[in-house]
Amino acid sequence: MIQEAEQPAIRPAFSTTTAPTLDAEATPRRAVGIGMLGMGVVGAGLARVLRDRAADLAITVGTPLSIEAIVVQDSDKRRDDDLPLHLVTADADADAVLDNPDVDIVVEVIGGVEQALDYVLRAIRSGKHVVTANKDLMARHGPEILDLAHEAGVSVLFEASVGAGTPIVAPLTRSLVANRIAALRGILNGTTNYILTKMEFEGASLEQALVDAQRLGYAEADPTSDVAGSDAARKLAILSSLAWGTRVRDTDVYCEGITRLETRDFECAAQLGYTIKLLAIASEDRGAIRLRVHPALVRKGTAMASVDGVLNALEIDGDLTGPVLLRGAGAGPASTASALIADIVEVSRGIVVGLGRINPVNLDREVTIQSMVGLKTRHLLRLSVSGGDRIQSDVVQVLRGEGVIADHATLDVAKNELVILTGSVEETVFQRAILGLRLLDGVREVCSAIRVED
Ligand code: HSE
Repeated sequence: MIQEAEQPAIRPAFSTTTAPTLDAEATPRRAVGIGMLGMGVVGAGLARVLRDRAADLAITVGTPLSIEAIVVQDSDKRRDDDLPLHLVTADADADAVLDNPDVDIVVEVIGGVEQALDYVLRAIRSGKHVVTANKDLMARHGPEILDLAHEAGVSVLFEASVGAGTPIVAPLTRSLVANRIAALRGILNGTTNYILTKMEFEGASLEQALVDAQRLGYAEADPTSDVAGSDAARKLAILSSLAWGTRVRDTDVYCEGITRLETRDFECAAQLGYTIKLLAIASEDRGAIRLRVHPALVRKGTAMASVDGVLNALEIDGDLTGPVLLRGAGAGPASTASALIADIVEVSRGIVVGLGRINPVNLDREVTIQSMVGLKTRHLLRLSVSGGDRIQSDVVQVLRGEGVIADHATLDVAKNELVILTGSVEETVFQRAILGLRLLDGVREVCSAIRVED
């Protein structure tokens, strides 16, 4: 059992001129100390907003927020002069933050998993509250971190880990807490949504668009996790854990990325009245949750279809509220700083009024994870074919033999391309039909098979 953290001693605020007066009798006012782990793009964005909005935030919290120490891995890295460089130390043990009695809240913005986990667990054991933007960490180790925080009587908040500054974690853990959630459905990766938008409207290649997304600070250090869908899968695991009060891991999520998509897929989808999005979907049915991330055709004109660029969106289907749609920037340093500060402010308000842990999350519900078997969807099929007009009827016949109806088929003999929109079909039946098509003379390649989410 971890001992209840001792409340740090009262100390004067760093700036008495900005300290608000909540209670004229109560002096001296105590600043809330922040220790930062990391000062990359996100950390620098946070430090700047804390500085620029110090006076307003002090009023909001009831006392100033004071950065006490910043630990970085590489002290030689060039950093802008306007950052609080005098607070920066390169210290692999992070003692300047984790052993610092003036630090009440540790803000983890180093990213990665192993070292971040070590730091966060140490911070909790030292009785410090933690605010993190690290979805990799929370998707893989969230339950054990929250368990330890519960024992230690400290808060661990992670709004910035999903949807950057767009509030998603708070609605699920607070505003909608009375609801039974039937489904979550959304766009949870800004980089891929930016790339897909560029492919659709500018005919850009995936590679070109990814370079832009990296330049704008949207992509992960290793953008493979963006384009492979694993970043969205991690976020869906975090949100599903909160929505159903259980322990979902990213490995529970079926995951397909966007790397096989081509600009031609958008043209084919558009002819049928659809656009293509990388959707993250979780749904619950009698204690079983199915979780999936994959590209999907989304009907043009719907709210989800118009979520473009770096925007994220999440539709939460609550039984009391009906569908609730949250939408906003899903990546970028300014938006991420907004979420980090929201959590810092919440923890700080608790400190000011003498509360210990806030926002307890219970993840003890038992659920079953359902595979893709049994899921029924329609599909857009794009085939490279040869053999003239006959190939269409041959393909339709193979599909029908496997129990797949072709609702719509367009053969372009000049382009050697056959595009088919299937009826609703169960996953394993569809996969069998694809195998059948690959063996058919005249089918050179199954270029795309994209699920439709009407
Ligand atoms: N790479 C992530 C994204 C950053 O593009 O959504 C925010 O989590």
